Amino acid sequence: MEQEILRIKEKAFSELEAARTLEELQTIKVKYLGKKGELTRVLREMKELPPDERPRTGQLANEVRAFLESELDRRFQNLIEQEKQKQLASEAIDVTLPGRPVRRGHRHPLTLIMNEIEEIFTGMGFEIAEGPEVEWDYYNFEALNIPKGHPARDMQDSFYITGEMLLRTHTSPVQVRTLEKTVPRVPVRIIAPGKVYRRDDDATHSPMFHQVEGLLVDRHCTLGDLKGVLLTFARQMFGKDREIRLRPSFFPFTEPSAEADISCLNCQGEGCRVCSGTGWLEILGAGMVHPKVLENVGYDPEEVVGFAFGMGVERIALLKFGINDLRLFFESDLRFLQQF
Ligand code: PHE
Repeated sequence: MEQEILRIKEKAFSELEAARTLEELQTIKVKYLGKKGELTRVLREMKELPPDERPRTGQLANEVRAFLESELDRRFQNLIEQEKQKQLASEAIDVTLPGRPVRRGHRHPLTLIMNEIEEIFTGMGFEIAEGPEVEWDYYNFEALNIPKGHPARDMQDSFYITGEMLLRTHTSPVQVRTLEKTVPRVPVRIIAPGKVYRRDDDATHSPMFHQVEGLLVDRHCTLGDLKGVLLTFARQMFGKDREIRLRPSFFPFTEPSAEADISCLNCQGEGCRVCSGTGWLEILGAGMVHPKVLENVGYDPEEVVGFAFGMGVERIALLKFGINDLRLFFESDLRFLQQF
């Protein structure tokens, strides 16, 4: 039996030396040391030996087993190391290779226009104010002199969160929120840019769009000051030849109210397709702050006056870039966006 054990040792050793892969090595391990392995079988047969031979043969068998186990382990480690080296060699990194350029993004056309508007008005001394997009009925309508049931609400239907809370339909509620905080201080000069929401959806209306509100309250100011501010804006935004025209209009929170037009960019006032032959393009609503609004927030309409305006940013962008479909701004089509 001792012969047999030594024969197994030699055979197993030469096989494991010859093994080239981890799988081969595993097969050898099972073949000799596994439950049905050759050495295991010999150990099991030991009980058939005469008792006086058992200790010596047993010791030999255990030594061989320990030897094969440690040799197998050594070969396993060798092969793992070899595979790692092979992998590293094939994955070599060339640190001298030039880097791949990172493609830079850029601002959305509406952001560009928004920034430009902000820059023009901050240049005239206006500060930037903000308000929530989810607004109370009170700020969006009530405090602006638009009570429940007022027909002006029909044109500004929105998404209601509760009976008293909605997505704001314009940035005018920021007028009220600002004045509540500044009262009784003057002058107040702010613009309020932001998103607004209405139940509207076609080539020139989107359910979400952007406005910039303007508000000035002081001891003394007139429609003439309003017109001057708007003219300065129009000329910086659309070129020094622009003219401004105020047309009578109606808003419950301004009195008198006006629509402001700029002279047509295309025909310089002659009349063409862009301006439907009128020579003018409407860009915003405006007016002198209604005494009721001032009263609602605690200013004395006998002491202070103000003007306000509100413009649609998409409309300004369409005119400035010469685009005819507002939906292009929201479709995220790179062929469009990359032109700016
Ligand atoms: N909030 C008005 C609108 O959305 C615009 C406006 C603002 C008019 C301020 C007058 C003064 O139509």
